[in-house]
Amino acid sequence: MLVTSKEMFRKAYEGGYAIGAFNVNNMEIIQGITEAAKETMSPLILQVSAGARKYAKHVYLMKLIEAAIEDTGLPICVHLDHGEDFEICKSCIDGGFTSVMIDGSKHSFKDNIRLTKQVVDYAHEKGVVVEGELGRLAGIEDAVNVSAEDSSYTDPGQVEEFVRSTGVDSLAIAIGTSHGAYKFKPGQKPQLRFDILEEVEKRLPGFPIVLHGASSVIPEYVAQINEFGGAMPNAIGVPEDMLRKAAHMAVCKINIDSDLRLAMTAGVRKHLAEHPDHFDPRQYLTPGRDNIRALVAHKMIHVLGCNGK
Ligand code: G3H
Ligand code: 13P
Ligand code: ZN
Ligand code: NA
Repeated sequence: MLVTSKEMFRKAYEGGYAIGAFNVNNMEIIQGITEAAKETMSPLILQVSAGARKYAKHVYLMKLIEAAIEDTGLPICVHLDHGEDFEICKSCIDGGFTSVMIDGSKHSFKDNIRLTKQVVDYAHEKGVVVEGELGRLAGIEDAVNVSAEDSSYTDPGQVEEFVRSTGVDSLAIAIGTSHGAYKFKPGQKPQLRFDILEEVEKRLPGFPIVLHGASSVIPEYVAQINEFGGAMPNAIGVPEDMLRKAAHMAVCKINIDSDLRLAMTAGVRKHLAEHPDHFDPRQYLTPGRDNIRALVAHKMIHVLGCNGK
């Protein structure tokens, strides 16, 4: 069944855990993630970026997710990741998604409110939920590459007015995470502004918060990529204990994409390096998909705490 994240977030908030929102781009990724969710009996959000829709086409991803629902029997929320304007949100709502993000964080506070409210009005009419964003993450977001200087933490003083005047169902905040595989400089101690999260939590009691850029950039996969022909020196992510801490707090949705990419790439690279004669994609995509299943099960049980929920 296709579901929204409404009930998932309510239970996650009360239970002190978080739901994983995993980015999907093809069949193997969708299968690896949904097999893990079934295995661990976890609630699940699959999210699709503008880039994913461009790569695979909306209809293919939607049909693959519907196939996964039929195959596993899981309730799944299908979410647009980083919608940048009203049109893409509308297109995803009309195309069957149950949740959209309108990322107005690059606009002024006033324009962000105006744009977000426009999306909320359209979405709610159709029973679709909306995630908004306040504050800017550093790193690569689809078309926009936000430099560290242009990024800024969420101002807790703005969150009540934003939520009240837009009607959003959840809010993404910037507390020091960033997109991609290079989140902290080598030698720099990874740090997140939990004081900001606490302040937001105080001002919005019971309201679900979203953490983007939350891959831990699993060192084992980075090492495997580097061992088998890759070159990703200094790839660093968010330590798992920080993610566990956030999941215990108001954070109800934790976004993970880079870790999936690393897991898939590590599996493919190792296989091809060890079997230079193989040329059947099924041979090398199988270990990629297996890695994704193992990674997602690990996240659900040991980081998000959403297994069995
Ligand atoms: O926030 C970015 C996500 O990792 C999606 O990345 O835009 O390359 O599909 P993408
Ligand atoms: P990562 O790059 O840390 O996986 O973040 C993904 C994300 O926030 C998607 O919206
Ligand atoms: Zn993101
Ligand atoms: Na939580």
